[in-house]
Amino acid sequence: MKEDKILILGSDVRHIVCSARRAGYNVISIDFFDDVDTLECDKDHITIREDEDIREELKRMEFDHLVIGSHFENFDLPRSVRDKILGNSSEKMAEVGDKLKLAEILGELGYRHPEIYDDRIKFPAVMKPIRGGGGIKNRLILSEKDLPEYHDGFFFQEYIKGRSTSVSSVSDGENAISLTANEQLIGEKFLNSPSDFAYCGNIVPYAGKKAGEMEKIASQLASDLNLRGFNGVDFIVKRDEIFVIEVNPRLCGSLDTIELSTGLNVFDTHIKSIFGELPDEPEIKNFSGKAIIFAKRDVEVKKIITEEGFVDIPPIGKRILEGKPITTILATGASREIVLNKIGEIYERALPKYL
Ligand SMILES: Nc1ncnc2c1ncn2[C@@H]1O[C@H](COP(=O)(O)OP(=O)(O)O)[C@@H](O)[C@H]1O
Ligand SMILES: [Mg+2]
Repeated sequence: MKEDKILILGSDVRHIVCSARRAGYNVISIDFFDDVDTLECDKDHITIREDEDIREELKRMEFDHLVIGSHFENFDLPRSVRDKILGNSSEKMAEVGDKLKLAEILGELGYRHPEIYDDRIKFPAVMKPIRGGGGIKNRLILSEKDLPEYHDGFFFQEYIKGRSTSVSSVSDGENAISLTANEQLIGEKFLNSPSDFAYCGNIVPYAGKKAGEMEKIASQLASDLNLRGFNGVDFIVKRDEIFVIEVNPRLCGSLDTIELSTGLNVFDTHIKSIFGELPDEPEIKNFSGKAIIFAKRDVEVKKIITEEGFVDIPPIGKRILEGKPITTILATGASREIVLNKIGEIYERALPKYL
């Protein structure tokens, strides 16, 4: 496998590409960014502007295997490349990625999930796209007057007020091992989140009292769904109740913090699990955090960010529009508070020098 050429395809792939590189895999990649650190980790990188661009690129590129990251689990991949996927099949990703279909499956299997409003909406409700993406398009609907006139491709769901979490697992199609329970940073004002529900990063581990139960639910669900490789299950914990929110049937953004907290190489673990080699449950060595910083207003990158703690480094001269991600800060520490303080300190002290 390590001699083979693996194409990594996602909305942003730096975390996956660099994990693969550290484990000695031969990778090339396609994403929407031209981050300097992605280019340092892979052998060939193509930056695309829109989804449809990948059809041409896939025809041109030569590769043995394909690994999917965020966003492209919902893309109708050409038949010719589907068999090359290392992970869940295209059909499985399509099934699980459709939130209405997933809600139906979760209901049949007996997992707790927010109610879907088919006819009469109860307020407050969450309006979401049937196929999600970083939470950006989710909206809280407080009353009838917040309802948009057109909502094609969206659905309405019970709003659960609680803590956003996730569990990352790996599985071989039958058995699954939960790697970590993660806190999700969602809609964080201090990171200039572009919306109330946008994914802004993670803190690992999630140390709440429901973490162990969540891990059991996630690995059971991965088995029930016959998932393969790495998968993420998003939850909301409301006091003693645990709601399954969605299943991300591919490598996720939590990869960075899992690696920083456990020492595991996630890409290697993903590949090995597909071939039946599951790891022991990893030991958590420390807390770690990943924080995506969004642009408060349009900015231009003046210098390459060289400060320690930054990843997803944009190239010089890049213009980043308001609400779009600029870069990411990673930090480790003995507690959640230490990690969050470090992130805040690095952001305030270092970032202004580069914009
Ligand atoms: N029913 C809900 N009630 C409250 N918050 C929700 C609900 N559904 C989603 N969210 C919030 O929005 C975030 C993104 O939603 P999710 O369904 O995971 O979409 P995406 O696929 O875009 O990540 C979740 O992590 C959670 O914080
Ligand atoms: Mg999600």
